[in-house]
Amino acid sequence: MYSIARPIENRPYCQDCHKQGKTIAYLDVDVSLTPAERAFYTGSFHIIMLSVLIVILLVSGFYYLFNRFINSPVQSFISALDKVKAGNMNIRLPAKKKDEFGILEQHFNHMVNTVEQSHKKIEEMHIEQLQRADKLVTLGELAAEMAHEINNPAAVIMTRADYLRLELDKQRNGNTSHYLEDLDVILSQTDKISKITSSMLKYSKKLPKDFKKINIFKLIDESIRILEPRLKKKNIYVNKEYQCKYDCQEAIVYGDETQIDQMLTNIINNAIDAMEVNGILTIKVECLSNYNVRLSIADNGCGIDEKAKGNIFSPFFTTKGHKNGTGLGLYIVKNICKNHNAEIICSSAPDQGTTFTITFNGANNR
Ligand SMILES: Nc1ncnc2c1ncn2[C@@H]1O[C@H](COP(=O)(O)OP(=O)(O)O)[C@@H](O)[C@H]1O
Ligand SMILES: [Mg+2]
Repeated sequence: MYSIARPIENRPYCQDCHKQGKTIAYLDVDVSLTPAERAFYTGSFHIIMLSVLIVILLVSGFYYLFNRFINSPVQSFISALDKVKAGNMNIRLPAKKKDEFGILEQHFNHMVNTVEQSHKKIEEMHIEQLQRADKLVTLGELAAEMAHEINNPAAVIMTRADYLRLELDKQRNGNTSHYLEDLDVILSQTDKISKITSSMLKYSKKLPKDFKKINIFKLIDESIRILEPRLKKKNIYVNKEYQCKYDCQEAIVYGDETQIDQMLTNIINNAIDAMEVNGILTIKVECLSNYNVRLSIADNGCGIDEKAKGNIFSPFFTTKGHKNGTGLGLYIVKNICKNHNAEIICSSAPDQGTTFTITFNGANNR
């Protein structure tokens, strides 16, 4: 049966008889379906039901296949990666399949093998380094002790040689003059020994840190005052520049006064060595923020070539010959910077002068 019901509206021409209301009646038509029509509607219902069933089956099938062949291998891959990330190097994947996942699993196993081997190597190196560091500490202590032990006999040799030199000088004649030359050699070489041992001693004493607020201008002035005889001898002009990026009156760094003083002296001494007469030494201080100070010491001396630049911070590296250099100055400077968490950069080229820039980042030391 097919039925349709429709309202009959109250139009103006109906209103002669039907005075009120919007709808005056309902037209209800009932038509009974023919067998063909009935078959059509039942067939359509079956087709719809079948389609729904097929869609459900297809979705479930896809879900199952996706889960079995994509999701599950990806999940096990992710969990294996997580375990490796957590440090478990014993994880391996089956890598039996011939598909892309099989290849991926092979690569994963290879990667874990490599990481495991590198891990082992790093661990071995770490243990080796710890042992070496231990040996170095002992060697350092031994060296400091030796420096102390050598210093005393060196001082005695120097005093005696000096005395002999004075005596020989008093009785100077043709026969003794070459002895005087020999004594000069003894004196200069003993002086070198004493310079090296006192640097070593000074360095070995550096460790106790006495960190406090330091006015860097005051330290620079003091270093320049101490080195004045050397500066005057070469008629070197000292140019001081000061820049402040924020409103401060003094450049304050947080550090150990003795160590920073030693650092300034070592760098300025090298600058004096590098310059001819009438050279210019420029000391620039920039305050970047609180305790964050950039200090640069520049000279217009002989400069450093690329090859030497790679070695200047190494202990005992010197280009000044064994008579004049110990090669410990910049090694000590580098270690003082390390102690202060400061960065040191050297920019130099032959005949272009040299600039050492040290940036104190005091915030980390407070
Ligand atoms: N301002 C500079 N100009 C040119 N060379 C420098 C300067 N500072 C350091 N050097 C080079 O670095 C080397 C190492 O310096 P340092 O460790 O102080 O030892 P030393 O002064 O006893 O040679 C010096 O021999 C020199 O070649
Ligand atoms: Mg030096």
